[in-house]
Amino acid sequence: MLAGKEVVLGITGSIAAYKGAEIASRLVQAGASVNVVLTESAARFITPLTLESITSRKVFTGLWNNAPATTHITLAEKADIVLIAPATANIIARIAGGFADDMLSCTVLATRAPILVAPAMHTDMYENPATQKNIERLRELGFIIIEPEEGRLASGGYGRGRLADIDIITGNVKLAAAKDGDLAGKKLVITSGGTREPLDPVRYLGNRSSGKTGYFLAQAARDRGASVRLITTSEPVGETTGIDVERVETARDMLSALNRATENADCLIMAAAVADYRPAEAFTTKIKKSAGGMDLQLVSNTDILSQARGSFVRVGFAAETGDVDKGAREKLSSKDLDLVVANDVSQPGAGFDADSNRVRLFFRNGKVEDLELMPKSALAHRIIDAIQAIGFSDKNC
Ligand code: CTP
Repeated sequence: MLAGKEVVLGITGSIAAYKGAEIASRLVQAGASVNVVLTESAARFITPLTLESITSRKVFTGLWNNAPATTHITLAEKADIVLIAPATANIIARIAGGFADDMLSCTVLATRAPILVAPAMHTDMYENPATQKNIERLRELGFIIIEPEEGRLASGGYGRGRLADIDIITGNVKLAAAKDGDLAGKKLVITSGGTREPLDPVRYLGNRSSGKTGYFLAQAARDRGASVRLITTSEPVGETTGIDVERVETARDMLSALNRATENADCLIMAAAVADYRPAEAFTTKIKKSAGGMDLQLVSNTDILSQARGSFVRVGFAAETGDVDKGAREKLSSKDLDLVVANDVSQPGAGFDADSNRVRLFFRNGKVEDLELMPKSALAHRIIDAIQAIGFSDKNC
């Protein structure tokens, strides 16, 4: 996701500086080359050695102690993204004022790369009007501010000022890096999770779908530059920075959310496990136990994918327990799809609630591609690769 990207990570003198090591590690794991700049105060909280071990690169601690060819603008020139996390009130004030008196502030002043700032400080310092004005000034200047959280502070108090969650910080970096991704300018609508069809106020008919694939697809598309609307019944899996998530419950909710969302869409990926039937009647009060059995009358739900028409690429899923190929081919033609992602949910490691999946891709042109068992996060990228191979331009014109 961040492969080939040069990220400058500025760490400043907050107690949250120790989290800089985890941030650096996550960025490296995502493929970035990370140059860490420690301010003088940050180097009191965390050692350069820790960060050098994580990034395999020399850490910058000052303006005057660097290799001969390194100048005050060396990092600025080659940076694709600059992230300051944690950012103290002091660095925020200095960069808002255009100061350039250490390696980090020089880099910020000289770079043309997007700059992300994740404040972390005591609540009173954060809420001080001077800090708030400085943050506002940074926003006006085009800096991306990653808001701090409310929570327990190092001082023992409680309030806003805790460094944002590391997932949210790295999500913002990926979002900033995605601007020139291979899906830049595309709009994807994705559905996920099992719909819940109410029977009474406390019961519903549902299924075992976890919604994970949809979240991973949304993250992968976001990381590749797409604008993403995720319509889902499921709790978030991972971070959702920059993803437009709409929570729904029933097939009927999903249908109306989807019809609003697909206007101008380039692609619809229907990963949701939509209930084919719903109770004919949803009781307004809890159904009481009675002697003997109970008959439940069901009525059909609309097939959302079949009725979603437009000039977008249409991708369906086929979760089968029998003849996978037959089911997938039938769905490809009966639902008029460009791609069907089919799997045998009775196989170990490939079920609804698993973290991995093994699928077979069926393309409209008759091509079939077998993918190996892999984590759902990796599979998401392979599905997007397949959509890219189909191509958007001839579909959406
Ligand atoms: N789907 C849909 N609306 C429905 C049912 C399914 O949009 N009411 C979509 C699913 O999101 C999936 C595809 O159609 O992308 C296939 O869903 P699946 O449940 O596997 O198949 P069904 O069409 O319901 O057929 P069956 O249950 O008989 O296999």
